[in-house]
Amino acid sequence: MCGVFTYYGPKTNAGEIVIQGLKRLEYRGYDSWGIAYKNNDKINIYKQVGKIGEINSDDLDLKPSQVAIGHSRWATHGGVTQINAHPHSTENNEIVLIHNGIFENYLELKKQLEAKGHIIKSETDTEIFAHLVQEHNQTQDFEDSVKLALKEVEGRYAVVLMHEKDNKVIAARKGSPLIVGVGENNEYFIASDIPAFLPYTNKVIYLDDNQMVIIDNGDLKVLNTETHEEVEKRIIEIDWDIESAEKGDFPHFMIKEIMEQKDTLSRAINQDPKTIEAVAHEIKNAFGTYLVACGTAGKVCMVGEYLFSKIAKKHVNFSFGSEFPYHKHFLTDKTLMICISQSGETADTLEAIDVAKKKNVKVVAIVNVESSTMARTADIVIPIKAGPEKAVASTKATTAQMAILTLLAYACNGGVKHGQQLLIETAGKINDMLNPRYEEHIMQLAKKIKDVESMYIIGRGMNYPIALESAIKLQEVSYIHAEGFAGGELKHGPIALITDGTPVIAFVPNDDTKSDMISNATEVKARGGYIIGVSPENHPVFDYWIKVPDCKDASPIVNIIPIQILSYQLAVLRQNNPDMPRNLAKSVTVK
Ligand code: F6R
Repeated sequence: MCGVFTYYGPKTNAGEIVIQGLKRLEYRGYDSWGIAYKNNDKINIYKQVGKIGEINSDDLDLKPSQVAIGHSRWATHGGVTQINAHPHSTENNEIVLIHNGIFENYLELKKQLEAKGHIIKSETDTEIFAHLVQEHNQTQDFEDSVKLALKEVEGRYAVVLMHEKDNKVIAARKGSPLIVGVGENNEYFIASDIPAFLPYTNKVIYLDDNQMVIIDNGDLKVLNTETHEEVEKRIIEIDWDIESAEKGDFPHFMIKEIMEQKDTLSRAINQDPKTIEAVAHEIKNAFGTYLVACGTAGKVCMVGEYLFSKIAKKHVNFSFGSEFPYHKHFLTDKTLMICISQSGETADTLEAIDVAKKKNVKVVAIVNVESSTMARTADIVIPIKAGPEKAVASTKATTAQMAILTLLAYACNGGVKHGQQLLIETAGKINDMLNPRYEEHIMQLAKKIKDVESMYIIGRGMNYPIALESAIKLQEVSYIHAEGFAGGELKHGPIALITDGTPVIAFVPNDDTKSDMISNATEVKARGGYIIGVSPENHPVFDYWIKVPDCKDASPIVNIIPIQILSYQLAVLRQNNPDMPRNLAKSVTVK
């Protein structure tokens, strides 16, 4: 949610480098963007509403520069306007900054600053920070002014600041991601995420909360923002390659990431057996295990409830990250919390971890971004190894997360090898399934239903959460009203919504839900519903059959894939951008 990017180094096209970096970060926020760069000791600011991906930097007449900051925004405080876009600055552009996060006490600070004569131009919470630094800058140097201002703000932030009359670039983080890229010849990058600077370097310094970095003419130092003591940091070489973070020949990241599921499942299963056994041990010995996540990752947790019940004979509870704090009364030092997150930066889940940690709860994180706050806060980390996921709609991370939970459930009953075997076979079947003919078959369906107003999805058992997840996928990229229900629940109310031709997707795996699902589909068909069966076998009740391989307890993993493809195709047919759905952003770093 919001992307920040900074260049400081010997190259003289800093503005252009920042624009290209922001394009690689656009999945984090895309309602407006802006850059600020220094040329001949003057700061130039350029910002506008709209997607940076559509910009040709040649049209901007950028002047030579060796230091620049830039931001792509997902609006929180203040509407989507040019004035509210970052960078924000003091009246005379003397101090400029970019910010991801929320300064929670900004209204109070704004009042104080306005009383001292500052003119705040935007409606954002961000701008006040530039003025706060300026206020201190009347008596202190730039670095000390930032240090003092940081002590006055509350909330979550990743900020980067420049000063017209000072060579330093200063950045700080608390609760929002910020990573330093270390290039050749005293070249530095500061970004919300690694892909932004991956074309230049794979050497990174991970900043932790309450740390600030000061770059001054090729020197870099990291300080603790509370004590101001210098902190020793390691430069880490990461093994991501730039291809994995680019679209390649695919028209969109979403379809690229759906197709990558041919490989990602195998990577997810390839875990250190000691870690899987250690987490299984924790689950078996915990007095209450909570699976905690948001959105799609939350639906994965719900699948987990069924997997643990069936395979491990263990009761586990699911809670959304945002709801978890209300369960705090039950928590003890014997509770186990397993958080699932693609980004590892979701504010609601991080807040849930804070609450749990206060009660000495042990935290396991199942994450994709291994450098994330969640991974760095948890006691045990299981990386899902899906590689960068850039489309806002989660696909390959979802199936990898389900694979890990399947593995853990099997590990709890001593059958980890059996679980691995099932998942290896499933990966092979997904590989066979994902071919152009399969896509074309789903495209025929997409063309038939592309103009419908509503559709419904039903499933039972571990495919009930898949019905809910299917609804999220369809909603967020196709903008068709979609709702998921437990198959048995339809007759208790929602069946009133079915009219002639209403599309209803029914998951009918070869398990103990099969005959009841067929009954539920038949009830819907009797009311005019158009039944789309997702099943290993065809059945007379289906009006349209999408074949999926029979994968036993891994059926949730294979069943979601055709719906990911359908959602993508509906988005394209309806001329939506599937990678950047309206009102959304990857990595929800606000509560
Ligand atoms: C939907 C989607 C979101 C995320 C949710 C949690 O396709 O991606 O619902 O699942 O915002 O995000 P992470 O997994 O990063 O914690």
